[in-house]
Amino acid sequence: MPRILSGIKPTGKLHIGNYFGMMRPAIDWQDKGEALYFIADYHALTTLRDPKLLKEYSRGIALDFLACGLDPAKATLFKQSDVPQVCELTWILSTLTPMPMLENAHAYKAHIMRGITPNVGLFAYPVLMAIDILIYDSDIVPVGRDQKQHVEITRDLAVKFNQTFGDTFKLPTPSILPDVETIPGLDGQKMSKSYDNTIELFLEEKPLRKKIMGIVTDSTPIEASKDPTNSAIVELYRLFASPSDVVQMESDFRAGGVGYGDFKKRLFEAIWNYFGPMRQRRAEIQADPNYVDQVLARGAERANELANATLSRVRQAVGLS
Ligand code: TYM
Repeated sequence: MPRILSGIKPTGKLHIGNYFGMMRPAIDWQDKGEALYFIADYHALTTLRDPKLLKEYSRGIALDFLACGLDPAKATLFKQSDVPQVCELTWILSTLTPMPMLENAHAYKAHIMRGITPNVGLFAYPVLMAIDILIYDSDIVPVGRDQKQHVEITRDLAVKFNQTFGDTFKLPTPSILPDVETIPGLDGQKMSKSYDNTIELFLEEKPLRKKIMGIVTDSTPIEASKDPTNSAIVELYRLFASPSDVVQMESDFRAGGVGYGDFKKRLFEAIWNYFGPMRQRRAEIQADPNYVDQVLARGAERANELANATLSRVRQAVGLS
């Protein structure tokens, strides 16, 4: 039975990119092996310095993930910081990590390009992420396209460790769904908290409508034919609508006579209906103040069990035991 692992950084509210890139595939995986999903709060510290917000976002992720269908009877959900063993292993692995490998990591390069002075934590982020994966002997890592490089670094570091100290770590494989490679945001770029172009999963009706109506479009007049192959509206609609509704929208784009405002309304309806049952489930979970804490506590227990076994294996391998 394969072991499946993935994580989400609590640096904001969950959005549609997270949902289609990682959460939905992760939820599908929970029936196919032992699934472990975690809230990457150590990672969030590299950019978030607000303890209240960190707690709020971490809890929000747990709540949203459960509302979307993560079943704690099948999958383990936990907080990264409930397994501090990852920090010790990160140190050990960092002593084998070549600096140039991290200098080439795209998240680090993106920060430099945006003029943000990187901290050591941000620089070393891929090593912590490698340990997040290796500590649980993970086989499969469902992630969005932007995380692929990190899983490749994980494999490289595991190979390096195994060559140096003997077979210790299992090599993981990323799982990226080809039909949801990168979900576009309101401006057509990759949907990302850092670009401020996200559509959150559980927005209220009014703000959601406002966001959708704010999707950036060109100034093609209503009567004119429009190109459906290059439109964030169509791309997003495809995720939520039935194939026949998508075909209809594409043909209405080409025919002309329908404005972008109208297409955005269709998109709003599709998103609103799609998340309807999950909104309801979310309200039910929220009504029980202890539910989320209990799920996370149970998750931490299982994660610790697995982490302790790997930690003692590694300590032994390097001569620390
Ligand atoms: P994070 O929090 O940025 O994103 C969580 C997951 O959502 C996916 N995603 C997207 N997929 C498609 N289109 C988009 N626009 C989009 N935006 C986000 C991401 O690819 C990711 O799968 N470093 C990770 C968290 C992490 C992790 C790990 C993941 C830490 N340790 C170990 C897997 C294994 C991150 O920052 O994800």
